[in-house]
Amino acid sequence: MKKVVLAYSGGLDTSCIVRWLKERGYEVICFVADLGQGLGQGENFEEIERRALAAGASKVYIRDLQEEFINDFILPALKANAVYEGKYLLATALGRPLIAKYLVQIAHKEKAAAVAHGCTGKGNDQVRLEVAVGILDPKLEIIAPVREWEFKSRDEEIEYALKYNIPIDVTKKKPYSIDRNIWGISIEAGILENLEQEPPEDAYMITKSATQGSSYPRYLEVTFSKGVPVKIDGKAMKLKNLITHLNEVGGQFGVGRSDMVENRLVGIKSREIYEAPAGTILHTAHRELEALVLDRELLHFKEMISLKYAELVYYGLWFSALKDALDGFVTKTQKLVSGTIRLRLSKGNCVAVGRKSANSLYKKELSTYGKEDKFDQKLAEGFIKLWGMPYKR
Ligand code: ARG
Repeated sequence: MKKVVLAYSGGLDTSCIVRWLKERGYEVICFVADLGQGLGQGENFEEIERRALAAGASKVYIRDLQEEFINDFILPALKANAVYEGKYLLATALGRPLIAKYLVQIAHKEKAAAVAHGCTGKGNDQVRLEVAVGILDPKLEIIAPVREWEFKSRDEEIEYALKYNIPIDVTKKKPYSIDRNIWGISIEAGILENLEQEPPEDAYMITKSATQGSSYPRYLEVTFSKGVPVKIDGKAMKLKNLITHLNEVGGQFGVGRSDMVENRLVGIKSREIYEAPAGTILHTAHRELEALVLDRELLHFKEMISLKYAELVYYGLWFSALKDALDGFVTKTQKLVSGTIRLRLSKGNCVAVGRKSANSLYKKELSTYGKEDKFDQKLAEGFIKLWGMPYKR
């Protein structure tokens, strides 16, 4: 029997896919990636494994990939200040190449001929997974049942699941499509498709609204070493704990929400809301520190790289030569990005209010308007003459 490795979530779609693939003569091996999605009520990884087997899988791989996700995907994107279209910190997009990597790895181990996923034909994720798989092993067949199967609605899928005793949680009402991991949550569909309407409070999962949170601000210090966040309020923390902690604290103050209309890779504009408290705090602090320690030319050039980097991540080109080359550049820029940024969290905002670094390029004796001034103002005259010279007729 031909083997296929399926990226399995435990939800309705991928559960039906297990059976659907079996009907087409495949032995189905499920792979569940733990990227810190936390899962829903009563759901845990054993429960998901049980469901996969009951749906007809021959074997289930569950892998905790959080450390790798943080170190090899989240951190490079943070160092690059990668933000898509000014608002999206790329939580979902960053997870896909990692899932693809393990799909390929397990396919090799199992001598499977194919991999499969539950992405729709209208989204970015199918592109990210398939392009990544194609780069890592162009010989693997890729199956995307949702693009080709006969079901036209969720109800038809539920009917199919009930008919074949595929265990699903039909009681759970699902007003939104949600993708979650440790770096953030992406929420779309349902009422959110109405662009004129403000997202209802119940759409957000981990952030309080700006009006609900405390009326007092909360101050927070983030310390970086070579572009990597290492301490919160002077206390050293492992990255996973640091991110989890900032998600909690930021969420309490309504920090990290965004509501955007974005350009999908497949040419569609769509409305999605995001929650990324830790990401927002860390991006704010990181950019502030770079402003202090990087010289003007490097800082400005890096801004252009950030845009490109975010596009590459969004476009599913994580394993491309350009992304690899940009990592080389970004890594070099982080050599001096060490220091501490003080932030104020309050009513949905996160702003930098203080900064300190041994590598600071700020020289008070030059910028001051006080009497300690060491700047030789006479030099400015000649500088301006030369600077403006090319433009005079
Ligand atoms: N629009 C985001 C992206 O392309 C998230 C996609 C998945 N969103 C979701 N709610 N399932 O990265």
